Amino acid sequence: MIAENESCLDNFIQAVISNPVLSSILVSSLILFAVWYIRDSLKIDHVDQKSVLVTGCDSGFGNLLARQLDHRGFGVIATCLTEKGAEDLRAAASPRLKTLLLNVTDSASIERALEYVRAEVVERGLWGLVNNAGVASPIGPTDWMQVEDFKNVLDINLMGLIEVTLKFLPLVKKARGRVVNVGSVMGRLAMTGGGYCLSKWGVESFSDSLRRDMYHFDINVSIIEPGFFKTGVTSLEVIERDLLRLWNCLPSEVKDSYGDKYYEEYVKAQSISMKLLRSSDISKVTNCMEHALTARYPRTRYGVGWDAKLLWLPLSYGPSFVSDSLISALLPSPKGKIVQTNQVDVSKT
Ligand SMILES: NC(=O)c1ccc[n+]([C@@H]2O[C@H](COP(=O)([O-])OP(=O)(O)OC[C@H]3O[C@@H](n4cnc5c(N)ncnc54)[C@H](OP(=O)(O)O)[C@@H]3O)[C@@H](O)[C@H]2O)c1
Repeated sequence: MIAENESCLDNFIQAVISNPVLSSILVSSLILFAVWYIRDSLKIDHVDQKSVLVTGCDSGFGNLLARQLDHRGFGVIATCLTEKGAEDLRAAASPRLKTLLLNVTDSASIERALEYVRAEVVERGLWGLVNNAGVASPIGPTDWMQVEDFKNVLDINLMGLIEVTLKFLPLVKKARGRVVNVGSVMGRLAMTGGGYCLSKWGVESFSDSLRRDMYHFDINVSIIEPGFFKTGVTSLEVIERDLLRLWNCLPSEVKDSYGDKYYEEYVKAQSISMKLLRSSDISKVTNCMEHALTARYPRTRYGVGWDAKLLWLPLSYGPSFVSDSLISALLPSPKGKIVQTNQVDVSKT
C-alpha cells in the first residue's frame, strides 16, 4: 500500500516536472505563498510607546486580549461594563494597564472615556481601537421576537460600535493607527433569527466603508470573524433563559404552529450543536486581534476557528439551498398546525 502511494506521488511529480505549464504554476504558487508568509510575519516596532483601547473587557475575548497586550508591553486601556469586571482585570494585569467603565450604548459614558483617553495619550494618539463589546441573545426563530429584541442587540453590537469608532477616530488618525472590529461568521451567513446576525452584517459593512475611507490616512481596519467559541456570548444558560421568555410570551396561535414539544426539541438540538462546535481555546481569536494590531501589514479579515474556516465561510460563498439545507438539518422542524382564519379549529371546541 505504502509502495503504491509512493509510486503515485512519483508519477505526479514526474508529470508536473515534465509539463512546463504545471511546473511554472507550482513554482509561482510556492513563491507567492513564501512572499505572503514573510510579509504577514513582519511586525511593528516600539509597542511600549503605543496605546490600545479595548471595549468589553469584563470577560471573554476582550479580557484575554487586554491581558495579552499588557504582557506584550502595550499601554492598554481596557474598558469594562462593570466595576467588578474592571477590578478583577486590574488584579490580573500589570500596573501599566488602565481600566475604564464604558457602556457603548451610553453617549455620555463614551464621552467620559474619550476625555480620559485624550489626556492619557496626549500627542501620541491612539494606536489601536478594538471594538469587541457585544451580546448575542435573544437568538431563535424570527417570529418569536419583538422589535425590542432586535433593537437591544443592534444598539450594543452595531450602533455602539459605530459611535465609539466615530468618537475615537480623530485620536486613531493622530497615531496613524488601527481599528479592529469584532464581527462574526454570523455576519457572513445568517444562521438564526434575532438581532445578532443583522448586527454583525452591519459591522462587516461599516468596517468595509471605514477601511476604504481611512486608507488615505494610513489607518488599517480589520474585521475579526470568529466561529463558535466558549464565552459569555455563547452561554447556553443565557440563550435558553431568553428563549424560554420568548416562548412563554408567544400568542397561542404561534405556539400551535410550532407544536407543544418544539421548545424542548429546539433547546436540545441547539445545545448539541453548540457543544459540538464551540472551542474553548479563545486565544485563537485574541492572537488574530493581536496580529491585526502588531503586524506591519494587517489582514482585512480574520476567519477564526476550524468551523469558520472549513464550514461557515465556504458555505457563505455557496448557493443558498446548500446553506439552507445544512442549517435546517441542525434544528428541528415545526410539527404544529396553522389554523386558517376561515377555518374553525375543532380540537379547541
Ligand atoms: N464567543 C463566540 O463564539 C463569538 C463568535 C463570534 C463573535 N463573537 C463576538 O466577540 C465579542 C466578544 O464576545 P465574547 O465572545 O468574548 O463574549 P463575552 O464574554 O460575553 O464578552 C462580551 C463583553 O461585552 C460586554 N458588554 C456587553 N454589553 C455591553 C455594553 N453595552 N457596553 C460595553 N460592554 C458591553 C460584556 O460585559 P458583561 O460581561 O459585564 O456583560 C462582556 O465583557 C462580541 O462582539 C461577540 O459578538 C463571539
